[in-house]
Amino acid sequence: MKTDVLLGLQWGDEGKGKIVDVLTPNYDIIARFQGGPNAGHTLEFNGKKHVLHTIPSGIFRDNNINIIGNGVVIDPIIFKKETDALREKFGLSNELLRKKLLISTRAHLILPTHIFLDKASEASKGESKIGSTQKGIGPTYMDKTGRNGLRIGDILAPDFKARYDFLVNKHKQMLAWHQFDYDLSEIEKMWFEGIENLKQLEFIESEHYLNEAMAGGKKILAEGAQGSLLDIDFGTYPFVTSSNTVTAGACTGLGVAPGKIGKVIGIFKAYCTRVGSGPFPSELNNETGEQMRKIGNEFGSTTGRARRCGWLDLPALKYAIMINGVTELMMMKADVLNSFSEIQVCTSYTYKGKKIDHLPYSIDPKELSANYETLKGWNTELYNTKQLPSDLLNYISYIEKNTGVPISIVSVGPDREQTILRN
Ligand code: GDP
Ligand code: IMO
Ligand code: MG
Repeated sequence: MKTDVLLGLQWGDEGKGKIVDVLTPNYDIIARFQGGPNAGHTLEFNGKKHVLHTIPSGIFRDNNINIIGNGVVIDPIIFKKETDALREKFGLSNELLRKKLLISTRAHLILPTHIFLDKASEASKGESKIGSTQKGIGPTYMDKTGRNGLRIGDILAPDFKARYDFLVNKHKQMLAWHQFDYDLSEIEKMWFEGIENLKQLEFIESEHYLNEAMAGGKKILAEGAQGSLLDIDFGTYPFVTSSNTVTAGACTGLGVAPGKIGKVIGIFKAYCTRVGSGPFPSELNNETGEQMRKIGNEFGSTTGRARRCGWLDLPALKYAIMINGVTELMMMKADVLNSFSEIQVCTSYTYKGKKIDHLPYSIDPKELSANYETLKGWNTELYNTKQLPSDLLNYISYIEKNTGVPISIVSVGPDREQTILRN
């Protein structure tokens, strides 16, 4: 058996959570491989909406295991809120949680001071800030690669508190350099309560667990967070997150060898959104963008910030498909474009006066503009999902033709049921 990967091809919030939930009945194990609570994955079923930040989106289905892999960074406070909600709203007992939700000993911990450092770093950048979610993601991955980080497995070590204090003292010196004011006492108390909550769960060496599961014929789906254009190497650097959000990240973030990767499912919206700063060639700073935001309810699941909106960007989509080795596409939020009589697609850019069809390594928005093709909108509600309107079918085949990858699912609403499977 191989591990299938599901990830976002744009700047995040493509609808990964919804689709993982839809696909979970086909899998035994769902595993998050990178990112942390900067993610907000929304699921809707039975008229209720649920947002997950750290926990894989398979958790609401029966008979499966959810794994938080080594590539993930965990904030014990946010994680406690998530598990408390599962206990209270879904009656998941501690015993069931221990069975259903397993955490890699190698996943790193976000400390309260990582959050302060994230805020201090953003404040020091002024106008050129990344627009981070301020969840401490960047500083935690910096400590990971700087070989100073604390891992889940360390929680059980007798000198855990001493190691925590050592790292916090280092952070305090950095915060003093930033002249950043903070109050650690309350948040530190909550953090150690979060650590006690984590101890109720099972820590595993997930690389062994997953490889043994594959050998035993179990089906695994790796759930990405963020999106390919936020990848630390291939995204719109420096306006990116601090992990590898692409397929290769599933290998390093779970311990699954490249040859063990099966299908790569790429999720994209029928248009584009971005939250936070950074280049966005097909952004619409006008009434049309406002309409997309309103109809698509484009406000961040983690921070509540308004998402920037624009047309589908084909060169960027093709780039993401190439880097990830996408084998099938799923198009999300088609319904959001129901009322548009015309749909535009960015097909190339003009960069420093020349036409190009790839994203340059660094973009000054003043030097780059998007070129569009116009397609006819379907301009109708998608009630009868068995027979999609011909103009929507035309949009789908236009994207398939330009990318060379089939679209296997079209999503027409936030609910589990509002999902059209194609062949
Ligand atoms: P994720 O981070 O990729 O899991 O995506 P988010 O959950 O942050 O953002 C996607 C938003 O769109 C959520 O509010 C979903 O409930 C919603 N959503 C997902 N699919 C659809 C769809 O097909 N149509 C509409 N209208 N909303 C959708
Ligand atoms: P999901 O998994 C959308 C963005 C932030 C910021 C940049 C860096 O829900 O798709 P960070 O906090 O990671 O240092 O922020 O990345 N960002 C996301 N945007 N969806 C996400 O996750 C995101 N996670 C981070 O807005 O621009
Ligand atoms: Mg999200």
